[in-house]
Amino acid sequence: MLNVQGLNTEYVDGNKVRVRAARDVSFEVPAGKLFTLLGPSGCGKTTTLRSIAGLEKPVGGSIRVNGVTVFSSDSHTFVPPNRRQFGMVFQSYAIWPHMTVFRNASFPLEVGTKKYSKREIEEKVMRVLTAVGLDHVADRDATKMSGGQQQRLALARALVMEPKLLLLDEPLSNLDAKLREKMRFELKRMQRDLRITTIYVTHDQEEALALSHEIAVMKDGQIVQKAAPRDIYDLPNSRFVADFVGSTNFIDGTVRHCEADSGNIIVDSAIGTIAVANATACREGDEISISLRPENVMVHETREAAQGQRNVFEGTVFAKVFLGETLDFQISVNGQTVLARVHPSHKTPVGQPIWFSVDPACCIALRSEKV
Ligand SMILES: Nc1ncnc2c1ncn2[C@@H]1O[C@H](COP(=O)(O)OP(=O)(O)O)[C@@H](O)[C@H]1O
Ligand SMILES: [Mg+2]
Repeated sequence: MLNVQGLNTEYVDGNKVRVRAARDVSFEVPAGKLFTLLGPSGCGKTTTLRSIAGLEKPVGGSIRVNGVTVFSSDSHTFVPPNRRQFGMVFQSYAIWPHMTVFRNASFPLEVGTKKYSKREIEEKVMRVLTAVGLDHVADRDATKMSGGQQQRLALARALVMEPKLLLLDEPLSNLDAKLREKMRFELKRMQRDLRITTIYVTHDQEEALALSHEIAVMKDGQIVQKAAPRDIYDLPNSRFVADFVGSTNFIDGTVRHCEADSGNIIVDSAIGTIAVANATACREGDEISISLRPENVMVHETREAAQGQRNVFEGTVFAKVFLGETLDFQISVNGQTVLARVHPSHKTPVGQPIWFSVDPACCIALRSEKV
């Protein structure tokens, strides 16, 4: 549906230095799916989105929607933004004051090039207001709405034109945490119900994991990994992705041996010998980092309880943080600290010995990026 190939977008900054904000960005989004560009501030997410919208003119690449080229450097095609028929919602969406909710949503139809009858407008507006759950407040003053309602109104306004593609740039970042979480669910439901192809931009990894069919993680203008949310989380392809998406422990080590039968590698690490299952490209002697999610560190409060487990280590409780639904243990092992996220029923006090084990299948071998 949307096909972005080899997109390069550059700026010239105040000192006349060329900034390559999007570098060789390529991805495809099937019709009806939600695709997320995720990455830290300044990695080129907005640039990529604005390039798709036609608000930036890339220096290279092509953008096609439903087989129609809207940008191509090769054929010198550039369809202006208003003719691309995309809907957009930005971080700082503006609700038009002195207008009702209804009027805010109907305005794009009234001023558009295509003329609609009063009845058509009424129908279209009420349909989108119902979709975002604002039909019952259609007559109210838009500025009297709560943050979450204004956010949904901004979305309704983008949807009313029945865009071929919906472009959302950090649309929830101005909302408080509780509302953001609620809107996350609503956005997901709405996107699935309306089956509208959506590009979503965020620096919030939880939002990306919760909403997306597919995620592209960006760094320095480039896509560094593209996969389904679960695979991004469970099988990150670099330290950068493992670290940016969720929290993780990195344990440095050297590959001692590759087991032919199990496919596991045996690693000599700072905390001891550890068997790792996810290590496709590793050779004996390689220096690697093992990524280990805190929730995959199984804590045992006695030596006996750890028996029969694989990859068992003994450490000392260095610190303990109660987080309500979970308990974080910082465990010292050979001068290294390992974070374990466990059920709050665990009791071992600070300073006492503790054991933990890790399933080789939960260990990911990554190229070490020593700095
Ligand atoms: N109008 C601009 N002029 C010059 N540099 C820009 C401009 N807009 C963005 N940049 C630079 O391009 C890079 C990518 O920015 P942006 O796409 O806004 O990142 P993100 O949305 O991921 O935070 C950054 O280094 C930023 O400083
Ligand atoms: Mg941005």
